[in-house]
Amino acid sequence: MTRAGPLVDSHGRILRDLRVSVTDRCNFRCLYCLPETEAAQNFYRGHWAHLPNPAPIVQQWVPRSELLSFEEIERVVRLATSLGIRKIRLTGGEPLLRHEVESLVARLAGIPGIEDLAMTTNGFLFPPKARALRDAGLRRVSFSLDSLDPVNFKKITGRDGLATVLESIRLAQELGFHPVKVNAVVIREINDHELESLAEFARVRALSLRFIEFMPLDSARAWQKDMVLSGREILRRLQARFPLRPIAADHASATAKRWAFADGPGEIGIIAPVSEPFCGHCNRIRLTADGKVRTCLFSVTEHDLRPLLRNGNSDADLGEWLRGVVWQKEARHHIGEPDFVAPPRSMSCIGG
Ligand code: 5AD
Ligand code: SF4
Repeated sequence: MTRAGPLVDSHGRILRDLRVSVTDRCNFRCLYCLPETEAAQNFYRGHWAHLPNPAPIVQQWVPRSELLSFEEIERVVRLATSLGIRKIRLTGGEPLLRHEVESLVARLAGIPGIEDLAMTTNGFLFPPKARALRDAGLRRVSFSLDSLDPVNFKKITGRDGLATVLESIRLAQELGFHPVKVNAVVIREINDHELESLAEFARVRALSLRFIEFMPLDSARAWQKDMVLSGREILRRLQARFPLRPIAADHASATAKRWAFADGPGEIGIIAPVSEPFCGHCNRIRLTADGKVRTCLFSVTEHDLRPLLRNGNSDADLGEWLRGVVWQKEARHHIGEPDFVAPPRSMSCIGG
């Protein structure tokens, strides 16, 4: 018999949000994710050479045959939606590297029950795709932008892409994507001197800018706690410069604490998973590009859905399997504790 009701875990959390990674590949090499550039290595070695550094993750792209097809992704999303998932976010790697991703958007946009369909992108390939994505039914988009200085942007991402990403953000607003969000991962001694200018950018351009604490999800396993600028520190700096008014969270599972500028449109958000974990309210699960379900960003085990999808199981079978997986969702992460083990894959494989 098939059980009814939404997906729920053993800690009583109801799952509403599914992040779908459509490719593990990326055209950037952000130093907090895929730090393979010389600049990234110089930064980590130069500043933190005295610290122990466990073996880096050897990044191997998933072979194409192992990627879920759009039909398979659509099936999983339909199933998840029938089990109470309401929010779908397409991520990567870089999702716009997946050939014809707009046709996946079109498939998903028509699924009843999805209240929110969004994408997180680095924005480099967005301009030629923007109109097609919008026409396919994408409503919301989040861009990664960690610096407004072209030299620093290149140091952080490995690409000379600032002008293109700025153009993407402008275009997204022009085409009516709403809200247009911008994510900035803050790393001490890398871009912490740009906090105020990024916030000013949000104020002037009426954007929602999220500052995110650096998490131990980089493939070099180079993360150290001292590199994290805490949410509290970020807020103190911004409050010293801008008149900010808190915005009430729209739901308990919101990850960002938000502030509006008292004197303009735009807003800032602070996401502080390291210093102020919000695991107790987490309602997210993730599907990797190769069809593994992850119940936490920091999961050390993954649940392989791909063979089940390819072996003729019914939706009822898959639904029961998913309920069993979700039930095992971890209570919380253990960042900063002696028993913390970084997950075996970097953010580019897991999806933001
Ligand atoms: N810590 C925090 N955020 C990260 N992202 C990627 N790697 C990390 C990390 N180590 C974020 C980026 C991107 C999103 C997909 O994930 O901001 O916007
Ligand atoms: Fe940067 Fe995202 Fe690419 Fe990672 S997946 S390197 S965070 S753009």
